[in-house]
Amino acid sequence: MKVTVITRSSREIIKRSLDLNHSATVSDLQEAIHRRCKKYYPSRQRITLPVQPGSKVRPVVLNPKKKIEDYYDGKSDHLTVILKDLGPQVSYRTLFFWEYLGPLIIYPIFYYFPVYQYFGYGGERTIHPVQTYALHYWCFHYFKRIMETFFVHRFSHATSPLSNVFRNCAYYWTFGSLIAYYVNHPLYTPVSDLQMKIGFGFGLICQIANFYCHLILKSLRSPDGSGGYKIPLGFLFNIVTCANYTTEIYQWLGFNIATKTVAGYVYLVVAAFIMTNWALAKHRRLKKLFNGKEGRPKYPWRWVILPPFL
Ligand SMILES: NC(=O)c1ccc[n+]([C@@H]2O[C@H](COP(=O)([O-])OP(=O)(O)OC[C@H]3O[C@@H](n4cnc5c(N)ncnc54)[C@H](OP(=O)(O)O)[C@@H]3O)[C@@H](O)[C@H]2O)c1
Repeated sequence: MKVTVITRSSREIIKRSLDLNHSATVSDLQEAIHRRCKKYYPSRQRITLPVQPGSKVRPVVLNPKKKIEDYYDGKSDHLTVILKDLGPQVSYRTLFFWEYLGPLIIYPIFYYFPVYQYFGYGGERTIHPVQTYALHYWCFHYFKRIMETFFVHRFSHATSPLSNVFRNCAYYWTFGSLIAYYVNHPLYTPVSDLQMKIGFGFGLICQIANFYCHLILKSLRSPDGSGGYKIPLGFLFNIVTCANYTTEIYQWLGFNIATKTVAGYVYLVVAAFIMTNWALAKHRRLKKLFNGKEGRPKYPWRWVILPPFL
């Protein structure tokens, strides 16, 4: 059987049609495209069926696991597909590793090295206990995230666009630098001992709870990341859909109660805003997946992210 690969503007992107056998899958087609054009490795390809010009119907995206035959209209032995280049891709592990490595390295630089002399603050610097605890808390948090990336999370998406590495690194590295700058500053004024203990104590409990939430999410999928989306159950997931985001937000609140900087609170607000948007989308997806589907359990009532508000 023959497959012609074109662009959305009908240009033949792979010269000459590809010849595939009848049992070939979409994944085989992707490999065949890759053999013809090295630039287009499978995760870079988005293959769809053509739609009528001017039509508002969404194009059908070909599923790599399905047979190509499943997409034939039965009239001929020839299929035309549209290839969209998704651009250079990186694995989710690579993306997460680089975005978390920045804060893990940048923060200790502000604590250990005499960087403030370059900002006009010479002389001796007194290090308060809260600054030392903050360093340990911060490093533990990002080290935990890197470990979870490699040993806990079971991602369903193989890759992410390379451009996201630069965008996400800009976000994490910039906030990391700002918070490190203010918390370790020679003119930093510590909060009371009691407030520091409450903040770090509460934050640490939330970090452990966040880790436990990630273990629950891990248990929902097989090691290769297959299994789709399930209803997370147990612990805080019994009351909130994105309990991992809830605990993430509260652990940053704990850090800010203990360290009290404007930069830290701005980061908390921005991170909470981002996670709330993601949580709303995840909550909608789970409701759509489970509600009204025969043979599937109904999605139980849950808060989205921040009980008792949302
Ligand atoms: N400070 C910040 O700005 C910030 C922002 C975002 C995240 N974080 C932290 O980073 C952690 C990871 O973030 P994330 O956005 O990757 O978390 P996530 O999407 O909620 O979940 C983590 C892993 O669990 C999987 N998963 C989620 N819901 C599932 C379900 N119903 N069934 C089966 N598997 C499911 C996800 O799969 P998929 O691969 O299919 O998504 C992903 O691999 C967060 O929990 C949070 O602690 C921090």
